[in-house]
Amino acid sequence: MAGGRAQRTATHKRKHADARASLRINMAKKNEKRLKVLVTGGAGYIGSHTVIALQQQGFEVAVIDNLSNSHAGVIDRIGEITGERPEFHEFDLVDRRRTASFFAANAGLAGVIHFAAHKAVGESMKDPLMYYRNNLISLMNILEGMRRRNVANLVFSSSCTVYGQPDELPVKETSPIKEAVSAYGNTKQMSEDILRFSVHAYGIRAIALRYFNPVGAHESALIGELPRGVPNNLTPFITQTAIGKRECLSVFGSDYNTPDGTPIRDYIHVVDLARAHVTAVERMIGKKAKSDYEIFNLGTGKGYSVLEVIRSFEKVSGRKLNYRIVGRRSGDIEQLWADTSYARRELGWKAERDLDAMMLSAWKWEQALAQSKE
Ligand code: NAD
Ligand code: WQD
Repeated sequence: MAGGRAQRTATHKRKHADARASLRINMAKKNEKRLKVLVTGGAGYIGSHTVIALQQQGFEVAVIDNLSNSHAGVIDRIGEITGERPEFHEFDLVDRRRTASFFAANAGLAGVIHFAAHKAVGESMKDPLMYYRNNLISLMNILEGMRRRNVANLVFSSSCTVYGQPDELPVKETSPIKEAVSAYGNTKQMSEDILRFSVHAYGIRAIALRYFNPVGAHESALIGELPRGVPNNLTPFITQTAIGKRECLSVFGSDYNTPDGTPIRDYIHVVDLARAHVTAVERMIGKKAKSDYEIFNLGTGKGYSVLEVIRSFEKVSGRKLNYRIVGRRSGDIEQLWADTSYARRELGWKAERDLDAMMLSAWKWEQALAQSKE
């Protein structure tokens, strides 16, 4: 009996000790300083997917976005997906004083991922100054804030557009930069130059990620691409046609020097792309970067023609797409896909989702959007 009581008392004490220990661990976890990353343009398409990937990796995230091409609701959706609504600051990064005061009030940032920019090629030809002002001044204001507040690590959204039509495929990071065919593309080339010179001068580390053609949406179908007006890009035009928002997809040219005559691109799932940003920021935080400024291609390394994309969409959606071949779109290049071996070797990153997965997630997102409007 007595032995039984002693045993029960010991068990009771042990349970209490365990509970106290786990309370201490939880308190320590709560107090543990999580690394905080600033995501500019975090309410946008690629930024929102990246905020999720960062939070899921344990980072605390602050978003700056002026909502010029996005909605505040995206921040709530991120909270629904991860269980943590990121800190949100709505302002224009072209505002130098406002940007400086953000950096002054947020000491100790582990890094910045800078997505915020205008991105419509056609619009940039109609109003180039709007593009130079928005894309370049916001980058300069961020570099200024990082420099003054000793924030060391920057990931920058660049684009395959810097290559133009390269002489050799697949295109490597070392391939020559061709003269830009749009003001938008020129802002990416100029931004890369600004970074190249700034890192050395101000003791900043930077990684520029040259995305190929980002498509698809988060598997929850709670966030995805939200194009304003008539989409310029292929995938949203396909899904909007299939849902009945557009009557017919125009395929811009079938007389290119490619196997089926339509242009070839390297489409990459936005969730794979988002993961690469976490890898890039961790590489700099862990001081694993080979130099102060690195550049990586982010694609799958496989090219698909417009007709192959349509076929994949028709297969996964089970719908026939209404499309017709029309003339070429001016400024379009014939074919482009990435050599991804450098990202694979150095970042240890590779895209995992195939074209069917990209089309299926884009389709689910379009359907979810339609339902939310019903
Ligand atoms: P997006 O328009 O969905 O997101 C950009 C976000 O930045 C938007 O939410 C917008 O409101 C915000 N923003 C723009 N200017 C701002 C400013 N001055 N201050 C504060 N916020 C501002 O675009 P995305 O597709 O997510 O692209 C993100 C980045 O990736 C951009 O830099 C873009 O040029 C680059 N990129 C995109 C693609 C693509 O096809 N989507 C391809 C290559 C590179
Ligand atoms: C893909 C293919 C079109 C629409 C753009 C930017 C580039 C980068 C990625 C940011 C092309 C064809 C398209 C349509 C079509 N963005 N198409 N009918 O042109 O490769 O690149 O986005 O940095 O800078 O230029 O992408 O999706 O517009 O076109 O036939 O209605 O689909 O001709 O071959 P693109 P896209």
